[in-house]
Amino acid sequence: MTLRFGGVAALQDVSLEVRAGELISVIGPNGAGKTSLFNCICGLYRPQRGRVVLDGRDITRASPDAIARMGVARTFQNLELFRGMTVLDNLLLGCHRHFRTPVWEVAVWSRRAREEEIRQRERAEAILEFLELQAYRDRPVAALPHGVQKVVELGRALTSQPRLLLLDEPSAGLVAEEKDELKYRLQDARRVFGLTVVLVEHDLRMVMDLSERVVVLDHGEVIAQGPPEVVQRDPKVVEAYLGVGA
Ligand SMILES: Nc1ncnc2c1ncn2[C@@H]1O[C@H](COP(=O)(O)OP(=O)(O)OP(=O)(O)O)[C@@H](O)[C@H]1O
Ligand SMILES: [Mg+2]
Repeated sequence: MTLRFGGVAALQDVSLEVRAGELISVIGPNGAGKTSLFNCICGLYRPQRGRVVLDGRDITRASPDAIARMGVARTFQNLELFRGMTVLDNLLLGCHRHFRTPVWEVAVWSRRAREEEIRQRERAEAILEFLELQAYRDRPVAALPHGVQKVVELGRALTSQPRLLLLDEPSAGLVAEEKDELKYRLQDARRVFGLTVVLVEHDLRMVMDLSERVVVLDHGEVIAQGPPEVVQRDPKVVEAYLGVGA
């Protein structure tokens, strides 16, 4: 894909593949194009060139809503929760994509609409339990510590039952202990829900511990990719991070 904003190439002929069940990380310095890549996959940005293909289906022109319904969920670098709403209600919003009951049926509150509502609540409660968020269930999100809000965002994404989960800096602002917890949660979530995950993350230890493959972006281009231990030693990567010779 190539994505330009005026003179800036946020992505320049970036090509990458994620296999089902894999966890890959996309790393790179600030402004490298990581969030732009997610925005293209989710349908928020339209690349000028290139395609996004999900299970053999071209989704480049699909709406963000349609892409979410196909099983792609993401979290945002800057938390995008409904701050005045409770944790449970934020999770229930994650279910929204599965709400297939026609509007008129909801209006008359048919049996099917009721059943659907019950299923969604069960799903949200199961995720609350899985992420150990029950204690915060009925608290407004705004009143919670940052670390808990990050977990709630993960919860909202999981409640939508994604096949592909895109995480944009899930550990930003977390203390060491919370980062370790997040790591275990992600490992469990992968196993339990059979997720495919793309992780954008600045914490390299987390990247090294979790990823099967790492893709490195710099100035909108892929400068390295491969197993974490190889990428970590790549001189191009070291230079991009440390600005050696810049
Ligand atoms: N909506 C936009 N309008 C204009 N320029 C944009 C827009 N979104 C991204 N860019 C530019 O594209 C480039 C890549 O930005 P992007 O946010 O994708 O980087 P990033 O790798 O996520 O960085 P960070 O680590 O700081 O989050 C930057 O130069 C940025 O200024
Ligand atoms: Mg970003």
